[in-house]
Amino acid sequence: MTATAGGTATVERVESYLDAGRIAARVAELGAEISARGCSDQPLVVVCVLKGSVIFFADLVRHIRQPTNLVFLGVSSYAGALETSGAVRLTHDLTIDIAGRDVIVVEDIVDTGLTMGYLVGLLAQRGPHSLRVCTLLHKPARKRVDVSLDQVGFTIDDVFVVGYGLDFDERYRNLPYIGVMHFDTAG
Ligand code: IMP
Repeated sequence: MTATAGGTATVERVESYLDAGRIAARVAELGAEISARGCSDQPLVVVCVLKGSVIFFADLVRHIRQPTNLVFLGVSSYAGALETSGAVRLTHDLTIDIAGRDVIVVEDIVDTGLTMGYLVGLLAQRGPHSLRVCTLLHKPARKRVDVSLDQVGFTIDDVFVVGYGLDFDERYRNLPYIGVMHFDTAG
């Protein structure tokens, strides 16, 4: 519960939106699609965008059948808990050279597209052989930047979601399902 200046309080409530079984089935399909593309002579570079995609990434890579290199990229874009600041910042860079490599970026959610637009621009400059994007969730209602998404797990409504890696104010990432965040007024 959070106290406000007017004396009223807000109670956070999470309503189930995508249950763990539905997520697991879709993640398996996404992994099978990636595997069906086959492999080149070098392992597929799978990029985890920290922190939101960490749980999706961990589940997805276990459905990929070809050799992989697993790498991590940190970005930060949120000024407050619910709204993007619009300015994306790299907080942790890749530790391998991706020139000439097949790369897939694994993201939790594409909302305005600002973060993915920034990441695709950044990674494309490094000369990969191919660069694909796989996002678990896509919220097209809030699009500000057009980004080509090769794989989308679920297209969702314009709601703020938490769980399965996604946070509100750094909380709820450990929920095994995805839920919609509600703020009820109490008292
Ligand atoms: P974008 O730059 O607006 O596309 O937002 C991308 C990032 O914002 C995601 O990687 C998430 O970390 C965060 N984000 C956007 N929408 C939500 C949401 O509904 N719940 C939690 N995080 C979100």
